[in-house]
Amino acid sequence: MRTPTLSLLSASLIFHARNTLGAINWDVYEYGVVESFKWSRPFPDDGTDPGGFHVNCRAEGTFHAKMYKLSDLLEEPPSGLHPWQEGIDHVLRQRHYVGTFDGVDHKGQDREIVMMEWTEVPAPVRHWIEEQQLDESEANENKWLYGVFKKPTTEGERIYQTFKPQPTAAPEGGAEPEKAEVVADKDKIVVFPAGAIYEIAPLWVAKGSKCERELHNLTKYRPQAIDHSILAWVTDHTKPKRELGKRDITFKVEAMAVTETDEGRRSRLMWEKLHRSIKRNDRRIQKEERLKAKKELEQGVTEERVKDEL
Ligand SMILES: *[C@@H]1O[C@H](CO)[C@@H](O)[C@H](O)[C@H]1NC(C)=O
Repeated sequence: MRTPTLSLLSASLIFHARNTLGAINWDVYEYGVVESFKWSRPFPDDGTDPGGFHVNCRAEGTFHAKMYKLSDLLEEPPSGLHPWQEGIDHVLRQRHYVGTFDGVDHKGQDREIVMMEWTEVPAPVRHWIEEQQLDESEANENKWLYGVFKKPTTEGERIYQTFKPQPTAAPEGGAEPEKAEVVADKDKIVVFPAGAIYEIAPLWVAKGSKCERELHNLTKYRPQAIDHSILAWVTDHTKPKRELGKRDITFKVEAMAVTETDEGRRSRLMWEKLHRSIKRNDRRIQKEERLKAKKELEQGVTEERVKDEL
């Protein structure tokens, strides 16, 4: 059983590596993928429906962003993020790096981060980010997926902290909410590793789609298709022309709401049954081999003893 397991593993690696552009991203092999990256392309890249599923609705959106390496942090904008260097460093220290669009970790100063104008981030995503940041619980790691910062207002101003959003309601007990600083949306940016998109990818394209309400419900969002689920993937992205000093990229998010077809369910149940019986058979063979080995050992010991006694 060793060979099939190995080839299955490499097949899934290749499948994983082909995710984003339909072409193999060799960085996946060269640098590796962060441990937390549980995502892989959940639907075919030729526009057809996922096998065994009916697509109730599709949504997509293309976004403009800038892609930096950590080594750019010390450079001045637009090719660097110097004003926010301390703030970004602080956010990145709070949790494990979640990787690029393919979950890749280029390590050290080559790690990639995305920067967007706050106004170019869809409202449902902004709303989600602010909710996380208003959540006081230390355990909520989600608040460190996206760092929101204000833009410097004076030459040479440094930004050390994320921007705290305005609470929407007074906290329990009637105490006056802390007066939050008011900064216009156009005067804010958001910085995140591209992999942070997958945590809430349907929200990126929910607004204005035919299944807006469904895509908003992240409880149905899954890395792989199951009955009544929401799937999403970054299906395309460009790379910055770094050799020209450029950092601009675009990326495209696609999402869909799916239900399993009757035929899909029948064939899934059949495969699951087959899989169970293969596993049962494997266990039986292993048990027999163990018994045989034990018997041989016992026999060997007996023979030794007979020899000793002779
Ligand atoms: C979200 O989906 C779950 C699971 O299908 C459902 O129980 C819940 O009521 C939905 N929530 C909203 C707000 O629609």
